[in-house]
Amino acid sequence: MCYGVFMIIAPWSYVWNYVKRIDSALTERESSILYQYSCIAGKGCIVEIGSYLGRSSCSLGFGARATGRVVFCVDHHKGDDQSGHITDQNGNVLSTFGSFVKNVKMLNLWGTVIPIVSDSVEAGKTWNKTYIDLLFIDGYHTKVGCLNDFNAFYKHLRDGSHVIFHDYERNIKTFGVKEAVNELQDNGILSIVDTVDSMAITKISPRKL
Ligand SMILES: C[S@@+](CC[C@H](N)C(=O)[O-])C[C@H]1O[C@@H](n2cnc3c(N)ncnc32)[C@H](O)[C@@H]1O
Repeated sequence: MCYGVFMIIAPWSYVWNYVKRIDSALTERESSILYQYSCIAGKGCIVEIGSYLGRSSCSLGFGARATGRVVFCVDHHKGDDQSGHITDQNGNVLSTFGSFVKNVKMLNLWGTVIPIVSDSVEAGKTWNKTYIDLLFIDGYHTKVGCLNDFNAFYKHLRDGSHVIFHDYERNIKTFGVKEAVNELQDNGILSIVDTVDSMAITKISPRKL
């Protein structure tokens, strides 16, 4: 016998009321895209590269929780020369991990949002979980940084999986996300299905055997 499965998907205004409390450059529309795509992602993992204080992680987390899944959030929590560092009064770099944990717990998403404190490429190389249905990339934003992150996780993505890149439409000299994503599209690896604010939403193309 087949029983229906009921899911309670919260309206975006409810989710935004919580995630907006976490400091971030991610806009409301961008956060809502992460929520929407996490609600419709397949049964595989949801993975994020670049969590900072957790706004994007929790936007994904609300969708993952509503559909009975988890989000793995990769960040070494040291900041970088593009996104900035949090430092003490002597200029020593402080980890953002404590604030990330506090924010995730504040939104009651601990257990759904699972941190992986690691360099992103290392995390991709040693990935031992199931395949990935949704990947959000918001780590180091040079062309090489973005390609390194993508390539480290590419083999764990399925054909048709969505990969969302932050800062695609960002006109900053040191940023190369647009170049990286356009190159991947030109090489037939993925295709851009939409852009929202600075984000590019892409879909992995079928691989040739
Ligand atoms: C722009 S912030 C992410 C913002 C976040 N998505 C949000 O919602 O606010 C970029 C993050 O990437 C992390 N990062 C940069 N390079 C990394 C690397 N190679 N491995 C892991 N994390 C990295 C930094 O520590 C920083 O927290």
